[in-house]
Amino acid sequence: MNKAPVIAIDGPSGSGKGSVARLVAEELGFALLDSGALYRVLGIAVLRHGVDLEDHAAVAELARTLDVEFGKSGEDSVALEGEDVTLAIRTDAGSDMASRVGGIPAARTALLERQLAFRQPPGLVADGRDMGTVVFPDAEVKIFLTAAVEERAKRRYKQLIGKGIGAILPDLLRDLKERDERDSLRAISPLKPAEDATVLDTTDLDLAAVVARVLELVTAQLPTLDT
Ligand code: DC
Repeated sequence: MNKAPVIAIDGPSGSGKGSVARLVAEELGFALLDSGALYRVLGIAVLRHGVDLEDHAAVAELARTLDVEFGKSGEDSVALEGEDVTLAIRTDAGSDMASRVGGIPAARTALLERQLAFRQPPGLVADGRDMGTVVFPDAEVKIFLTAAVEERAKRRYKQLIGKGIGAILPDLLRDLKERDERDSLRAISPLKPAEDATVLDTTDLDLAAVVARVLELVTAQLPTLDT
């Protein structure tokens, strides 16, 4: 069987890629891979199991055996070892840990197979940092979403408050800059657009406009799909 088509949507935190990927997947009837959620769950599991972040082999082993389930109790729900961690993975600690485990090469390798398994007919929308560069380098459509860091911090703030999680805007901005730097400068799978990706700056675009633009690109680059 030919491989199912993949639409890779990469970008930094707060670029809107999560919401955009979800809506595009819904529109196309494709599956969705939120790869950041995998790194977030691994980060939380490291904390809960008391694994030393410096012990890369132990973190990778945890990644290989991670008992994670998506969509168990609601569309964007995530369960770790049967326990709902949908909110826990979105806290500052969850974000920080995700970025840290993401810098461990053996952990990335351990999570690779799991991510590849999401590629099923009729197709997949994959969101993350390295979907178009490393995980699905042969993705049919590659999009890299960016936005000014101040705008991204504001979006994250609204998102957290909306979920009932307390947040302080200047702290979010500082943390976002720190994570951007760590994600962009790391030696393995750094955050950067694939050479063949379309870069979209979403600073002044609302969600609907970005989704419309992505669907245009999909129609142009995947002409067999009737969107
Ligand atoms: O997309 P997100 O904000 O949920 O991702 C959280 C962290 O996970 C991010 O700071 C870096 C890491 N990550 C990664 O290293 N590779 C991915 N494909 C997705 C996320």
